[in-house]
Amino acid sequence: MGRYLVTGVAGFIGSALAKRLISNGDEVVTIDNLSTGYQSNIPDGVTFINGDCGDLNVYDKIANLSFDAIFHIAGQSSGEISFDDPIYDIKTNAESTLLLLKYSMKIGCKRLIFASTMSVYGVKPDCPINEDENCKPESFYGVAKLASENYLRIYQQYGVHSTSLRLFNVYGPGQNMKNLKQGMVSIFLAQMLKNKHIHVKGSPDRYRDFIHVDDVVEAFIRCLNIEKSKGLAINIATGKKTLVSEIVETMVSTQKENITVNYEGGTPGDIHGIYADISLMNDVLGEWKKVDLHDGIKSMVNSYL
Ligand SMILES: NC(=O)c1ccc[n+]([C@@H]2O[C@H](COP(=O)([O-])OP(=O)(O)OC[C@H]3O[C@@H](n4cnc5c(N)ncnc54)[C@H](O)[C@@H]3O)[C@@H](O)[C@H]2O)c1
Repeated sequence: MGRYLVTGVAGFIGSALAKRLISNGDEVVTIDNLSTGYQSNIPDGVTFINGDCGDLNVYDKIANLSFDAIFHIAGQSSGEISFDDPIYDIKTNAESTLLLLKYSMKIGCKRLIFASTMSVYGVKPDCPINEDENCKPESFYGVAKLASENYLRIYQQYGVHSTSLRLFNVYGPGQNMKNLKQGMVSIFLAQMLKNKHIHVKGSPDRYRDFIHVDDVVEAFIRCLNIEKSKGLAINIATGKKTLVSEIVETMVSTQKENITVNYEGGTPGDIHGIYADISLMNDVLGEWKKVDLHDGIKSMVNSYL
């Protein structure tokens, strides 16, 4: 049993991780500003500090606690929003990491696991992308996450051992269906259920690497006990290239009614396609059976019906 600070537990990934820790008998404290999360998502048993990870004063409220590790999950995760307000994005996605690192040092917490993103890579050729690739993000969001990865790298020398998990496209139950600027699968699903129509911003032949939230949680938990994950940035993905049209078709196939689809426009900073080389993930975290994409999408649709 341990005690963990998990930021962002009112959100999609943070709440899933907190549920798993609580069910293991661990103690969880969270900081969340409820900007995109909901208090109702916070599992019973979690100590909730309503505040912003980018606000120095929030750390006074937990100054006397000690933690076995910090999972830094809070942040805004929309490339589109990062173009609307790059200053907000860097505050929430980079400044908050610096403050958490300072806090870790102050309380003597030596382990921090960070929710980074595949958006750090930018435009890449049509082949599996590994962690040695040059990072040239195309969105402000990717820039801020890459800055955080670098802050973590620098703090290694002060004894805070970190791991950056570069999450690819995460989907699954609990994804925010009201935020239509964040999360490809949830955006399509929300439109389908509400309007019987899916408007995809961008072409059907774009491709991504979709990973179920349960597998993402598994990766976070495994990091805790794997010494060789310290100091690394690791892709968290399935290694499978999936077309956007395949996601849409799988979703539509779950419905008896006629669903219309159109592909039009685009989103700033959106890249045509990326999927992961997961050799490092397999080597460091070990292999496990991942949720099948079609099964995962179907059960996600059912969970919302
Ligand atoms: N969902 C994905 O596909 C994906 C992919 C790559 C990386 N990520 C990263 O994973 C993390 C979690 O993503 P998610 O999909 O669960 O998003 P989410 O919006 O559902 O959850 C984020 C949570 O963090 C909180 N939050 C945001 N900024 C905060 C701040 N400054 N201080 C305190 N709380 C704050 C929000 O209120 C929310 O509860 C994010 O950092 C995101 O960038 C997500």
